[in-house]
Amino acid sequence: MEHQFRTIIEPFRIKVVEPLGITTQAERRVALEAAHWNPFLLHAETILIDLLTDSGTGAMSAAQWAALMIGDETYAGSRSFFALERTVREITGKKHVIPAHQGRASEHILFSVLINRPGLVVPANSHFDTTRANVEHFGGEALDLLPPEHQDPRTDLPFKGDIDLVRLAAVLRDRPGQVPCVMMTVTNNRGGGQPVSLANLHAVRALCTEHGVPLLLDAARYAENAWFIKVREQGQAQRTVREIAKEMFSLCDGFTMSAKKDGLVNIGGLLCVDDDALAEECRTRLILTEGFPTYGGLAGRDLEALAVGLVEALDEDYQAYRHASIRYLFDRLDQMGIPMMRPPGGHAVYVDAGSLLPHIPPHEYPGLALTNALFLAGGVRGVEVGTVMFGQPDPNGGPDICAPIELVRLTFPRRTYTQSHVDYLVEVLAAVQRDADSLRGLRVVKQNKVLRAFSAWFEPLT
Ligand code: F0G
Repeated sequence: MEHQFRTIIEPFRIKVVEPLGITTQAERRVALEAAHWNPFLLHAETILIDLLTDSGTGAMSAAQWAALMIGDETYAGSRSFFALERTVREITGKKHVIPAHQGRASEHILFSVLINRPGLVVPANSHFDTTRANVEHFGGEALDLLPPEHQDPRTDLPFKGDIDLVRLAAVLRDRPGQVPCVMMTVTNNRGGGQPVSLANLHAVRALCTEHGVPLLLDAARYAENAWFIKVREQGQAQRTVREIAKEMFSLCDGFTMSAKKDGLVNIGGLLCVDDDALAEECRTRLILTEGFPTYGGLAGRDLEALAVGLVEALDEDYQAYRHASIRYLFDRLDQMGIPMMRPPGGHAVYVDAGSLLPHIPPHEYPGLALTNALFLAGGVRGVEVGTVMFGQPDPNGGPDICAPIELVRLTFPRRTYTQSHVDYLVEVLAAVQRDADSLRGLRVVKQNKVLRAFSAWFEPLT
């Protein structure tokens, strides 16, 4: 008889290794001071485990590295483009496949076409920062419609990426002719990497059809979303992730994708639509900024690696392992009483730094204090997703206008770290938790007006 084992293993073995920089606490303090207490300004060699982002930071497979070698660098009509086009059509069913150098480039092209007059609004479950920025750049309004219970970190609901259908219906009804598209982010990064259910997507599709409005996906993490549907949505367990992904894509009129996530590549993006006229306009814009439509700012070899990565992301052993490794960290931290966004998302664990460090008020950046403490204690880099990232300096010089919640995202690069790295991470978090009372907030020394998180200088408060 065949045995069943409980341990979900990494479904790969390691062929190439990259040494990690092991540093002392004293060295890390020097590095953090030199980075002005902003982890974005750290140099990579000082970081042991980098959980800043899952974007472009994953490991490619042997098949992807092999595919690089057959990349066709023909300027126009590259063989590699047609290989990618075939794969994308098979997975998504979309007619027009337009490559771009990364997600935000495809967003820029799309919204440069769709937002063609004043007064337009783009509803979404939550816009990722770059989608919002692109909608606003062209004069549109980016409207997030997540129900309040999906924003509460404590509610343990299976599909906290679902949009508020009542409010969406109201927008579509009250603003006829002003909605160029509805955008659904799968999984919903801004909302904690939470998935969108098929039921919600069907309902959004029905509303969009009723009002004659296109539905687009931000499909950066489409395969992780499909996996969540398989394991959490009623009646889906017997279907393959690939079938579920196909259904997700069949419900939309097009999508943008940062291929740096579920494309399993280090660089790349896609813009895919069904509509011929829209595709034509997008291709014309693309020539201005990205290059020719058969390479879209990428090398031919990048297109080949992406074609392989998109398929590998649908592998169910891979998805089972990926979600198990995130759940593993979540469960260990939960046992330790570390407050987190529930349930764990598809690409990250979000620690609720505001609750962990209640003595640090939001305008003294508890998320940044925690991020820095993790780096000092163990060389781990997470990312603050709180008032530094989403708050705003008070125009009258008072305390910042704060974000609704102070989180630290511990983001998992794909196929990169092993269980012992996660065990180490748990120890680092335990050490920081023990010293939590002694942690202090920070103040801004220097900042830009926009996107300050990436460049601001800080100083610890004593
Ligand atoms: N959409 C989503 C949902 C994203 O998470 C990102 C990037 C983008 C679009 C933009 O894609 O970076 O290829 O231009 N998210 C990264 C992150 C940066 O860390 O979450 P890009």
